[in-house]
Amino acid sequence: MKRLVPVLKQDGVNTDLIMLIRTVLAASKEIAFRVSQGELAGVLGSTLDENIQGEVQKKLDVVSNQLLKDILADDDSVRAIASEEEDYVVGAHPEGKYIVAFDPLDGSSNIDINGQIGTIFTIYEARDDVAFDSPEQFAQKGSEQVCAGYVLYGASTLLVMTTGGPTRCYTLDLTHGGYLLTEDEMETPINSKEFSVNMANFRYWPQNIQSYFNDILYADEQYAGSSVRYNAAMVGDVHRVMSRGGIFLYPADSRAGNDNGKIRLLYEANPLAMLVENAGGLATSNGQSILDISPSSLHQRVPVALGSKEQVLEFDSKTSAD
Ligand code: AHG
Ligand code: MN
Ligand code: MN
Repeated sequence: MKRLVPVLKQDGVNTDLIMLIRTVLAASKEIAFRVSQGELAGVLGSTLDENIQGEVQKKLDVVSNQLLKDILADDDSVRAIASEEEDYVVGAHPEGKYIVAFDPLDGSSNIDINGQIGTIFTIYEARDDVAFDSPEQFAQKGSEQVCAGYVLYGASTLLVMTTGGPTRCYTLDLTHGGYLLTEDEMETPINSKEFSVNMANFRYWPQNIQSYFNDILYADEQYAGSSVRYNAAMVGDVHRVMSRGGIFLYPADSRAGNDNGKIRLLYEANPLAMLVENAGGLATSNGQSILDISPSSLHQRVPVALGSKEQVLEFDSKTSAD
């Protein structure tokens, strides 16, 4: 089985970016170790703090954020850092070539139930036309990402990553501590009858989303035999969708603060959109390509639909305003 670095070299990835990816993954291995230790590592449960989005921070959110932030701040190639758990941009090295954003721990509600959780990350080239620690560094479209990936801490620890080419899957080999290539090119099935969505939000959805689900649940016979699969960790849900097809949805809803849903553009929607699209799927927000959205703020949220191409196209056409 091939190791990560030779695969990246074969893909023509430049040495600076390879070194930076290795830095991110060094932190991921420390997180994976703590996750596997669970209560023994003292990482379960909540802190007394909230992040800027009003979410209670779990201990593992904070630990993972600190591990990633410290290791990246030590890397000369990093100009600035953004994280779900940091209110503002963290400046690193003014001459650094790259900026890195991450959701240190996605699926926090699964931490204490030994469920799927993950780390999502994205890398862009730094901009020279704005201050090194400005939020404008991160106001780049998802199509500008030079690397997008996640580490899924599941039964195995998986790395799913693209550097612009195919989405590849690696498995962490605990015997030597490295990631080995286990799926050369992920391919999202073109269609499926699986839906990944928090159905309990039905009452809060706008009418177009409700009528789409009315069709699936009751009206339209073509959806007989459909399944809902949802584990409330986007990283795990999207992994399933990429592996065996389906659509992941987090629409806008009428709850306070949710007028664009819950998923954050910078460190959730964009990296996962790039991974899904480079695996042959589709990722949209209100019918527009997620990767084409011009960001307006660091922690901006966007409604998302991503997964099997035909399912996403159908969702968009059935829910469009026309
Ligand atoms: P995070 O744990 O990083 O805050 O992200 C959780 C996100 C996403 O991963 C998941 O799909 C969604 O929140 C679940 O939200 P609901 O509990 O509202 O379904
Ligand atoms: Mn998240
Ligand atoms: Mn998170």
